[in-house]
Amino acid sequence: MGRRFRLKSLKALILTTPKNIKELMTTQFARPEGKAGQFFTLAMNVFNFKLYNAVYNYVSKEDGARILDVGFGNGDTLKRLDEKLNAELYGVDISPDMKVAATKANAEAVAVGRMKLETASVEQMPYEDEFFDSVYTINTVYFWKEPEKALGEIMRVLRGGGRFLCGFYSRAYFDKYKNFRSDDEKYYTVGELRELVKQNGFENVKVKLVDGKKFMYCLVAEKRGNEVDNDSGDECGQLP
Ligand SMILES: C[S@@+](CC[C@H](N)C(=O)[O-])C[C@H]1O[C@@H](n2cnc3c(N)ncnc32)[C@H](O)[C@@H]1O
Repeated sequence: MGRRFRLKSLKALILTTPKNIKELMTTQFARPEGKAGQFFTLAMNVFNFKLYNAVYNYVSKEDGARILDVGFGNGDTLKRLDEKLNAELYGVDISPDMKVAATKANAEAVAVGRMKLETASVEQMPYEDEFFDSVYTINTVYFWKEPEKALGEIMRVLRGGGRFLCGFYSRAYFDKYKNFRSDDEKYYTVGELRELVKQNGFENVKVKLVDGKKFMYCLVAEKRGNEVDNDSGDECGQLP
């Protein structure tokens, strides 16, 4: 009787909650907010640590490297990088609540200026051209409204020879949970994401498998370096 009552109340609670479960899941992954946002981002930390480790493998390990996290959520990946690297860490996230959460999680690094967090969208980032040695993003690509613009912006802020890393779940994973998918989101196959990144000017685009179940991947790409044409070795002379 008691258990039945609890199930009934839970169902009632779900039905009478202003946002139903699907809406809650899609909004809280795309733009976490409030208490629910804190809960969902904590859950992501548990489920996605393999993606965080994959990103760590490919970011610049140079002392003083500038590294940008696009869509940092509660700042857990930045925290892990801060513990391991001697880097300048930056982050943008579209959710103001996530800036608060990530600042709290990284209070000391933010206070001394080793980590700088902004509320901004990937499509328009507040950084100079060629500023970063590495730019990474984990589980955000599905929410980009204008993927070409986002990739163009990442290309702009990345230095020549720098790396872009994108941790993601392939469309095959989301196909298993069709009821929770949102029409506003875009899920990519490995081939589709690789092509998109290539078509937007990145080079040496590779996709690494991160888990045994073949759902989690880390795309690794480079921005072309500033090569100098040394063919003749002569300095450019004056026109006659
Ligand atoms: C699923 S969460 C992933 C959080 C974190 N990267 C992680 O793996 O734990 C997606 C995050 O991307 C942010 N986001 C969504 N669209 C964005 C955009 N256009 N620009 C910047 N951040 C965005 C959301 O606010 C959210 O914090």
